Amino acid sequence: MPKVRVTRRVHFSAAHRLHNPALTDEENARIYGPCNHPNWHGHNYEMDVTVEGEPDPRTGYLVDLGELRDVADEVIGQMDHRNLNLDVPWLQGVIPSTENLVVAIWNQLAPRVPRGRLARIVLWETPRNYAEYTGE
Ligand code: NI
Repeated sequence: MPKVRVTRRVHFSAAHRLHNPALTDEENARIYGPCNHPNWHGHNYEMDVTVEGEPDPRTGYLVDLGELRDVADEVIGQMDHRNLNLDVPWLQGVIPSTENLVVAIWNQLAPRVPRGRLARIVLWETPRNYAEYTGE
């Protein structure tokens, strides 16, 4: 059977602050620039969730995209219109860089994928910056 990949694109908006408490305020400001602003700032995130596997011969689907959307919404719903530093239990103690977020989201999403296996997540923080993770 052919192995294919299907992708669902989802969106969420969230506030965060990049700050490492182990560093001085000066180091934080130098490393993170405006993303270190104490009173938070927001991003409109776009995320591509890619699942890989063989299509079910009965349906022709690798994964029902409605079901994939629902499980993505379970995870996104915990971040959308929230403060990533304060409001999300599984991001406590995580510096919410795009790199760290894409890995944390993977860990939430991978066990929920209803069919096939999670192959790739691409997380866009701005239209010009993204991080991707394939579980390695
Ligand atoms: Ni930021």
